[in-house]
Amino acid sequence: MHSEYPIGVFDSGVGGLSVLREIHQLLPNEDLIYVADSAHAPYGDKPKEFILERSTAIVEFFLSHGVKAIVVACNTATAAAVKELRSLYHLPMVAMEPAVKPASEQSQTGVIGVLATSRTINSNNFRILFARFAEQVNIIPQACPGLVDQVEIGELGGPETRELVAQYVEPLLKQNADVLVLGCTHYPFLKPVIQEIAGANVKVIDSGAAIARRLHSLLNHHGLLSDAGRLGSVRFYTSADNGKANGVISALWGCPVETEKMVETLQDGENLRAIRLPG
Ligand code: DGL
Repeated sequence: MHSEYPIGVFDSGVGGLSVLREIHQLLPNEDLIYVADSAHAPYGDKPKEFILERSTAIVEFFLSHGVKAIVVACNTATAAAVKELRSLYHLPMVAMEPAVKPASEQSQTGVIGVLATSRTINSNNFRILFARFAEQVNIIPQACPGLVDQVEIGELGGPETRELVAQYVEPLLKQNADVLVLGCTHYPFLKPVIQEIAGANVKVIDSGAAIARRLHSLLNHHGLLSDAGRLGSVRFYTSADNGKANGVISALWGCPVETEKMVETLQDGENLRAIRLPG
């Protein structure tokens, strides 16, 4: 493993770009490879086995590009697959955790809302997180079907998006939540609408910056921080039509980018064989 190798960052779609931007900001020398699995988004309503198979295919793709570390920039893939990925692949891997800890420290009312996909909210990881803070704070989980789809099509502030956000946020406000945790990496792109609907007295927080810090400390620990004195490259791949993806990815990234088509290294069925190997 070499410190000048790239880092692979993936999500079910374009949401992980909210984590990628924090990584690029904190670690500007690192070469980054991003995969948006937009052909298969959203993951939130798919079976665990499917998410595990997709995550394995993406990790194999990263390995074929010689990555030194992987960031699972997707709360849903973290909940469904990271345990298995860590037992299959032995390289530094950072995964998501909704920002419940900082939220519990910042709340004055003692009530926080967690916006996430149904799969994240119903996961074992979330139950454990919930139990860890349940004595300190009242945590209200809110599943948000449809929001990932709006971000995937770049609809960040239109009437349909606003209506969905209001439908999910207002019940949390009625229950006195004063901190909202964005437990899905797509949602930071909706932060302006969420903040507007929640009002200025409500804090809206996500874990992107904390994940970048965690990556920094893990790379440092393994002696893998790049010392190249130049700005790192960022390559964008999608499993969907890359021509069509360009527009949304460029808009979310904040400048025009060339998105490449992700060519999978494993054929159908091989992913599942790889997953079943240890058992
Ligand atoms: N960005 C993913 C997450 O953090 C969205 C999951 C989905 O595709 O439903 O959970």
